[in-house]
Amino acid sequence: MKQINEGESVLSVPDVSMPEDGVVFYNPAQALSRDMSILFYLATGVDVLDGMSASGARAIRLAKYGVPVVANDYSSEAIKLIEKNMAKNQVEFELMNTDLRRLLHSRRFGAVDIDPFGSPAPFVHCALQSAVKYIGLAATDTAALAGTYPRVSRRRYGFVSKKLPNHPEIGVRALASFVIREGAKLEIAARPVFAHIFQHYYRVYFEVKKGARRTDKLLDELGTYEGVGPIYMGNLWDKSIVSKMIKHMKKVELGHKLTEKHLLYISDELKFPQPYMDLHFLCKQLKRLCPTMDSLFGKIKGSRTHFSPTGFRTKLSKDEVLDILKTN
Ligand SMILES: C[S@@+](CC[C@H](N)C(=O)[O-])C[C@H]1O[C@@H](n2cnc3c(N)ncnc32)[C@H](O)[C@@H]1O
Repeated sequence: MKQINEGESVLSVPDVSMPEDGVVFYNPAQALSRDMSILFYLATGVDVLDGMSASGARAIRLAKYGVPVVANDYSSEAIKLIEKNMAKNQVEFELMNTDLRRLLHSRRFGAVDIDPFGSPAPFVHCALQSAVKYIGLAATDTAALAGTYPRVSRRRYGFVSKKLPNHPEIGVRALASFVIREGAKLEIAARPVFAHIFQHYYRVYFEVKKGARRTDKLLDELGTYEGVGPIYMGNLWDKSIVSKMIKHMKKVELGHKLTEKHLLYISDELKFPQPYMDLHFLCKQLKRLCPTMDSLFGKIKGSRTHFSPTGFRTKLSKDEVLDILKTN
């Protein structure tokens, strides 16, 4: 075991760098995703089930900011470690040691947070029935979502995929579309209100509301994009939630150095709802040298994107952007 600091918390975690059987996993890189979820749940003001808590890192940090939290993990080793980490951080909350699906079938929570190894697909249907207001969902099977394995995309998420230059965002939109379609079966509209990626980790937060008409309206926002679909084509971010998250950033001790930068990019990119374009890909298509991002933004109105350092967002169509790049 080793002791680490993440944000305002001190945690005992196993000294391993990859998931191993029977060992509770803690990934330091995901401090960014935990930062974002603390900001999200502070901004939305709900009680949270940390459904796959592992070392308790997320639940402990939420509890430190006064968010009512319940932590669950089916591993009894994880539960012992969470108890130890609760004492270390002088916080207390309810602990459950059961299969997440069983828990979700028996109880409701303001927000249900699901952070699996791999795909969240097996948990979505019961999360939709348990969550009163929000679901936070992570996926690390990004190859299936981003089009590397089209047969897995079809089998696991029910969509036609192929790898596109902006595949990280298309993967996030495919995950959103899966949750929306699962929600539709229950007449629950699960609308994306925040999304981000970091390395091979996607995360989407949904606001859930009952209602057949609302659900139909949301289904109208699914479509195909360059042969991939159905994917969600609507807004990935709710502006007022993002503004509140930025306000909360002042009082939260962040655990990752890139959280602030990513959130500020998001607050800018949400003004341009259509999927980002990749500048290097477009320049390669035109067989032209790439302009710098700064000179690109001298010619078009747009923003950078947290999805990719070579990506940009704009309201212009791809053909309009290509015409502008040709005159470079
Ligand atoms: C990726 S880890 C969670 C990491 C943690 N949320 C964090 O931020 O450090 C996934 C955890 O889910 C637990 N888990 C996997 N399947 C589960 C299930 N069906 N019910 C409850 N816990 C489960 C595993 O024991 C593991 O601790």
